[in-house]
Amino acid sequence: MHFPSLLLLTAGCIAYAHPTEHHHDREHDQGNSEAIQQRLDISLNAMGGRNALKSIDSVTYTANTIYRSNTLGQSYNLFTTDQSVASGGSQNMAFSFSANGLKSCLDRAYKYDYYWSWGRPQLEPSMGFSFVTQDGAEGFTCFNQGQNSFFVPDPTIPPGYSDPFLSDYLIHHAHQFAFLWLLNEFANNIDKLRLGYETDLVAGSRHVALFHSELELSILINSTTNLPSIIRSYENHAVFGRLTEAALEDSIIDSAIINPSLHSDFFDPHPPLPKPEQGQFQLQNTSRPARNSEYPRFEVHEFFESGLWAGPFGDIVNVSDVQTTFPIPCCPQIQTIFVEYPVYVQLLIEIEDGLLITDAPRPYSNGSHEHEREKGGVADYIAAGATLVIPDFAKAFYNLFPNSPDPKIITYSNPHPFHKDDEVVQFTSHLGVENPQAKDWTFAIAGTAQPSRDQDLALDNADVINPGTDAVQ
Ligand SMILES: *[C@@H]1O[C@H](CO)[C@@H](O)[C@H](O)[C@H]1NC(C)=O
Ligand SMILES: *[C@@H]1O[C@H](CO)[C@@H](O)[C@H](O)[C@H]1NC(C)=O
Ligand SMILES: *[C@@H]1O[C@H](CO)[C@@H](O)[C@H](O)[C@H]1NC(C)=O
Ligand SMILES: *[C@@H]1O[C@H](CO)[C@@H](O)[C@H](O)[C@H]1NC(C)=O
Repeated sequence: MHFPSLLLLTAGCIAYAHPTEHHHDREHDQGNSEAIQQRLDISLNAMGGRNALKSIDSVTYTANTIYRSNTLGQSYNLFTTDQSVASGGSQNMAFSFSANGLKSCLDRAYKYDYYWSWGRPQLEPSMGFSFVTQDGAEGFTCFNQGQNSFFVPDPTIPPGYSDPFLSDYLIHHAHQFAFLWLLNEFANNIDKLRLGYETDLVAGSRHVALFHSELELSILINSTTNLPSIIRSYENHAVFGRLTEAALEDSIIDSAIINPSLHSDFFDPHPPLPKPEQGQFQLQNTSRPARNSEYPRFEVHEFFESGLWAGPFGDIVNVSDVQTTFPIPCCPQIQTIFVEYPVYVQLLIEIEDGLLITDAPRPYSNGSHEHEREKGGVADYIAAGATLVIPDFAKAFYNLFPNSPDPKIITYSNPHPFHKDDEVVQFTSHLGVENPQAKDWTFAIAGTAQPSRDQDLALDNADVINPGTDAVQ
């Protein structure tokens, strides 16, 4: 399809802190393997030596006191992280490693922060799930108990094997946390390592760092103690760029057991009978971990960790499930569009010189309404030639989008809404005043160019609760 012009309006909000000064926090020289080996040996010796490390084949961590997490996607402010997912919880992690790779098991229990009562009024049931991962060519992730999903009616039902992109993210997460396994991997793969320096932007300290090019993880070393002090992973966020200091999860390990005695089936997958229509997968080669630029790790991370990942578009619903309605029957130029359920709805207006569309969702299996889904697809729309129509103060935020430099932007502010009309239709987008939803919360009204007294109007807004018909005059 070719659109003469496409105007895109977004409502809602997304936020984050520290879009980093690109590149200044990371310098990796190639380094020669001798220097790398030396540097690693110093750290391994500070840890107790290579042989001590080799004698370890499993470890468990328990975090009973603190487990909490934040979300980028639901923040109120555009430029800070201010929204919690888990305000309290606990987490156990277990790892087992051998020449055949890494197996892990993670159990997590937490209560959603009060904010989420818009979707789960009693915040019940609390979240509790357990999954196992295995890396390598035969890798998988399988949810044996429960799932981390805000939208499914019963999150205590495990979905079994996960889709390839979630599996990839969770295995990468296991690599990052399986610290003793990771040291062995570094020691056994000197040719994959690069030596350099990295900055801890919060503490402002510079560290010697070893970067593993295949695992895409770095070990940052404390120069006083020579002990590894930070295990860093990298995500190139479509909205915020390369983030390194994102305090999205925070837990304190109360106890760790080296070489615990675990039952031989401890890391086995126990998938329920597959029901693909409910997102339960049988293990197939297509559910092996995989990466895809459509669903980069940052996105899976962000959506999964806040309970909002429902799998890639096409697994449960596809373009055949896109529906349109005409809210003003006599005016086919004004349409609503949604995927399967009218939970997340975009307003589409055909106007003489193009199309107006509200919000920029990313394609997911579940068209639920999330702040980030309102904006996550902005880069795709811009690539299709769209002009962004946004509140004026949000301009700096949209200029951060790393993959969409210099987007065409039209701004508006109070008391001057964005307005467009032709001989048939009119459309206005208003910026909300300070409100509980999001700093850049907007609402749009569309109607015919010359509405009669009793003609309908179409109103498009985000996450507004109607407190009862009596309240609407
Ligand atoms: C998708 O969302 C609908 C409506 O909120 C919900 O009923 C359904 O269970 C969700 N499906 C998945 C797989 O999350
Ligand atoms: C290195 O470790 C020492 C001792 O634990 C600590 O005092 C210091 O702050 C650490 N340095 C950095 C840069 O983290
Ligand atoms: C999955 O296996 C089938 C045959 O068993 C093969 O044709 C297909 O290419 C494989 N797909 C992937 C993604 O490996
Ligand atoms: C969408 O999914 C349905 C059911 O699985 C299938 O029949 C249809 O061909 C798919 N449509 C597209 C465009 O892939």
